Amino acid sequence: MQYETIDLFPLRIGHCDACIQCRSDVCSIDDDMQWIVQRIRSSDALVLACPIYFNNVPSKVKALIDRLHPFWFESLSKQACISYILVAGRRSTNFLGVKEVIKAMSYTMNLRIMDGIEIAGTDDGVDQSTYDGLYLFGTRFEDDLNR
Ligand SMILES: Cc1cc2nc3c(=O)[nH]c(=O)nc-3n(C[C@H](O)[C@H](O)[C@H](O)COP(=O)(O)O)c2cc1C
Repeated sequence: MQYETIDLFPLRIGHCDACIQCRSDVCSIDDDMQWIVQRIRSSDALVLACPIYFNNVPSKVKALIDRLHPFWFESLSKQACISYILVAGRRSTNFLGVKEVIKAMSYTMNLRIMDGIEIAGTDDGVDQSTYDGLYLFGTRFEDDLNR
């Protein structure tokens, strides 16, 4: 399996201003989203890996998701899928809000949602079971993709 990791934090990802140029042309904002959208179009699977900030995705991730509006007008040409790795400091964190955001993204892009992994309580540290869980997630994800 070939994969690429894109670290969003150093990238320039401007906020969607709803100009809707993407209905008929490329996005009017010239930044890193131009090539990220191309990568997404050529991918079979996406994995969103992010910490939880105030019960939601960090603003940079939300900026990226908002900029996926072009997919509203031109869906992916093939059925791709999406999964997620969500990490939260508090043990009692509710991941529902983020999962709703991922659901909305999947409707717009016609992505199949696959099981993800939710890791809560990292403020108390992580132990081997966290890494074991991530390893299991990775192998299961690869198996599901190859099915
Ligand atoms: C701005 C900010 C907001 C956060 N909000 C939450 C939150 O709502 N719930 C929670 O459980 N943890 C919250 N956290 C803790 C992070 O989810 C947690 O530290 C996570 O492990 C960070 O992952 P990282 O080490 O990969 O950056 C927040 C952290 C920051 C910096």
